[in-house]
Amino acid sequence: MSLVKRCRRRRTRGLPTLLVGTLALATSLAGGPATAAQQGTLHELAAAQGRYFGSATDNPELPDAAYAATLGSEFGQVTPGNSMKWDTTEPARGQFDFTKGDVVTDFARQHGQSVRGHTLVWHSQLPGWVTALPSAQIEAAMENHITEEATHYRGAVTAWDVVNEPFNEDGTFRTSPFYTAMGSDYIATALRAAHAADPDARLYLNDYNIEGLGAKSDAMYALVNELLDEGVPLDGVGMQAHLAVQYGFPYEMRANMQRFADLGLDVAVTELDVRVQLPADAAEVATQSTYYRRVVEDCLAVERCVGITVWDYTDKYSWVPGTFPGEGAAGLYDENLLPKPAYDAVRTALGGGEEGGGPGALKVLYRSNDSSSADNQIKPGLQLVNTGGSAVSLSSVTVRYWFTGGNGASTYSSWCDWSALGCSTVTHRIAAMDTPGAGADHYLEVGFTGGTLAPAASTGEIQLRLNKTDWSNFDESDDYSHGTGTSYTDTGKIAVYVGGELVGGIEP
Ligand code: XIL
Repeated sequence: MSLVKRCRRRRTRGLPTLLVGTLALATSLAGGPATAAQQGTLHELAAAQGRYFGSATDNPELPDAAYAATLGSEFGQVTPGNSMKWDTTEPARGQFDFTKGDVVTDFARQHGQSVRGHTLVWHSQLPGWVTALPSAQIEAAMENHITEEATHYRGAVTAWDVVNEPFNEDGTFRTSPFYTAMGSDYIATALRAAHAADPDARLYLNDYNIEGLGAKSDAMYALVNELLDEGVPLDGVGMQAHLAVQYGFPYEMRANMQRFADLGLDVAVTELDVRVQLPADAAEVATQSTYYRRVVEDCLAVERCVGITVWDYTDKYSWVPGTFPGEGAAGLYDENLLPKPAYDAVRTALGGGEEGGGPGALKVLYRSNDSSSADNQIKPGLQLVNTGGSAVSLSSVTVRYWFTGGNGASTYSSWCDWSALGCSTVTHRIAAMDTPGAGADHYLEVGFTGGTLAPAASTGEIQLRLNKTDWSNFDESDDYSHGTGTSYTDTGKIAVYVGGELVGGIEP
């Protein structure tokens, strides 16, 4: 199938992919806004290669504004971690409740993201009434459940994990109420019911430990061959990819994906995470990055691998510590929502890296510490994060925040009110722009007297403040770098330079 068809319902957002990887110099010469050398979100980088890059999410974490900001900006696809499962959607027979799943599909719609529906038929998180049904009633209950749920999410869900985890480790069918009642035929029945309810959705079988060649993936391979021979509607195989550094990388993952692709099926990495034994040491962190990188490389090498979903992008909300005692740190971002080396490894594998050779990969997180945008002070809060693979010497780093002075004095004072590094390490000055731009005729420039920022490290908060020397009021509302968000986010409108070269953010 062509890429075009595969992408038919995928919406891309944000920067046009042409900007990905564009060098600052080239665009400034062209007269447009200068962009950083490290440009593009994970999804934009993936989309440039015809893939999506997504994350699981769950209702309890969505009110976390900083979490939601990164989920909405960095990822182009979401999978609800729990809210479309049977125990949530049909807790009592015939009583459907799609409220929680709708919150996730609404979020996705607002952020231009596609949604993988997860999951219609699974032995786990099944309400007690299903397990208690006489076998003779299971098929009707299953068909009704699929019909109601897949119909409800028509148009909102692009792909369904119709059946989740049908196999045991040795490749025999897993016992479940469905298998007990219908034998393995329940899988074809489920796929047919899903297709009837939503003919446009891509229909998947999904399982774990089928990423590499082995008995379990052989069983999946035999099953899908049979289903395709019988003309059962099936579009893809989902490989969960809950990996662990202590168990090694899946054996021949690329060849395994390719054999499914060769049957005319899509493959997707549906629940990627790479857990380590806690506390994580440097070797585990390095191995973890390698595993993430290899998954991305393998997916990109297989044309029918349509995308990758991480099973929530941050350690803050990962399911791992609750399920595997003593293990964790499995995500791309840490508990403080800061990117880890694995994030950088994924970026690099997606073709967006500046790792190693570049001037340094940094981003600035910003929040306004000022409740009034019309008073006589501007109070930006900044945090500088090293998103690259090598340490950055802070004495070569500067950050610029642009604003307009408006009427009144054209001389300014700036202040460091507080910094996790200590304000004595932070330098600041106000400079006038030679050529004012939209929302910008001056900028606050922040620098550092010394120190090093390790890969994935943050400076922590730096609370800054500035005023005109006559203490007249500002109108910040139209200032280029100004935002009203109260949690730290990468707005892209504050620039960071290493040795004078733009490495993050966009200039006015
Ligand atoms: C997990 C959720 O992340 C947890 O919050 C929940 O308690 C248990 O299920 N394979 C799957 C997912 O297909 O549905 C599981 O999600 C993780 C393993």
